[in-house]
Amino acid sequence: MYNEIDLDKIDIAAEPPAEEPARQYYFMAKCRKYVQKLEEELGRKPVCCVKTFGCQMNARDSEKLTGILTDIGYEETEDEHADFVIYNTCTVRENANNKVYGRLGYLSNYKKKNPHMMIALCGCMMQEEQVVEKIQKSYRFVNLVFGTHNIYKFAELLYNSMESGSMIMDIWKETDKIVENLPNKRKFSFKSGVNIMFGCNNFCSYCIVPYVRGRERSRKPEEIIREIKALVADGVCEVMLLGQNVNSYGKNLENPTGFADLLREVNKIEGLKRIRFMTSHPKDLSDDLILAMKECDKVCKHMHLPLQSGSSRILQNMNRHYDKNQYLALVEKLRHAIPDIALTTDIIVGFPGETKEDFMETLDVVKQVEFDSAFTFIYSKRTGTPAAAMENQVAEEEVKERFDLLLKTVQQISAKKASALEGKTVEVLAEEENTQDSSLMTGRLSNNSIVHFKGTEDMTGKLLQVKLTECKGFYYLGEIVSNA
Ligand code: 5AD
Ligand code: SF4
Repeated sequence: MYNEIDLDKIDIAAEPPAEEPARQYYFMAKCRKYVQKLEEELGRKPVCCVKTFGCQMNARDSEKLTGILTDIGYEETEDEHADFVIYNTCTVRENANNKVYGRLGYLSNYKKKNPHMMIALCGCMMQEEQVVEKIQKSYRFVNLVFGTHNIYKFAELLYNSMESGSMIMDIWKETDKIVENLPNKRKFSFKSGVNIMFGCNNFCSYCIVPYVRGRERSRKPEEIIREIKALVADGVCEVMLLGQNVNSYGKNLENPTGFADLLREVNKIEGLKRIRFMTSHPKDLSDDLILAMKECDKVCKHMHLPLQSGSSRILQNMNRHYDKNQYLALVEKLRHAIPDIALTTDIIVGFPGETKEDFMETLDVVKQVEFDSAFTFIYSKRTGTPAAAMENQVAEEEVKERFDLLLKTVQQISAKKASALEGKTVEVLAEEENTQDSSLMTGRLSNNSIVHFKGTEDMTGKLLQVKLTECKGFYYLGEIVSNA
């Protein structure tokens, strides 16, 4: 495993190895020399700042970047006045891109005062041609740019960038490669994301993800199990299995397998207490997965099932491969099998051609299903996607009105659902000391809700029975009844 590799024992005078991940460890050893020199020059430890935009997959990638940066000698900081700053970007909606450009302006000012500072950009936004062109032209102070497919090459690219005085840019259009066993440094001691697959084959017509993350590639089940066992040995008690569409996990493997069987295998891992996963596509949600969720005691009673729209006509134009009634039937099937399952969703408002009637269909599904919570988004036109070329883009004001009504409805329903648990005693995983009040611990219910209760830090990672004494809307106050 990665943590057994001693960088000091690597012969950096030799030629770089051709095979991975050995090649990256070689470049990490080389980078370490550079960071040691910088430390001598600065008279202090150099600091690095990894900023994550976007989803859980990006958050996990950032842990990998941080692992490499700390192994080569940087200390972590949240502050962007650092010696090395990397933005791990998202591009799912246009405003994610705008945020990055805005912050780059600030960074350029810091760099003017600290010319040794290095700035790197990676992630989904870098897979877009027009973005890369813009950076090349107008953001010359950036040292390093790479994309989603070659993130495993970070150490090598970083070394090249340390050696060269000019901007290093390396973006791949595609890859079928998965490089395992590189360092990573988790944000939380007790929980971790675990990638089970990369990419997406669905091509929903509004979504840029298939273009920036490439085709679906699944990791081998044995690699996933090995990683989770190592995480558990390192104190992790909850994993979140990550993929753009976990329900189609394993289809493209040499020995094809399915997500339901992967869950069953992960459930057997001793010491692991909770399993979550994200994201499910309704079109691929099998009966076997529902059965596996029911059978596996460690799998949390929570399903994130993006609806996107309640209108069958819009769903068809979105290329979602299900209609309103099929979605409702799926929800019924899930609730019949697992009555206390929490359902959350994603909804887009203002997709091209969405009429008032279409929107009312969405509201109708929201009211019928009563989601525990929902992420609501205003449609964002992404260049290169089929929806961007569709006519009848909806007027901004109309969209805003619909969005506000949807948000209000979703919030009312969430509050009602949450208050239904008030007074109940439920199983809670104690996660961490409360950041505002150290006499409190913060824990999470199986359904993903948060509860604060009197407790001590040594409870971290323990399952407890907690009475939810008061519902505060988005979270609960509670008291421990007993150790579960
Ligand atoms: N505009 C708005 N929302 C989008 N999403 C994906 N693409 C877009 C877009 N172009 C939302 C979907 C998805 C979530 C991760 O982001 O709801 O489920
Ligand atoms: Fe985008 Fe659809 Fe893939 Fe989700 S399933 S990442 S919404 S294309």
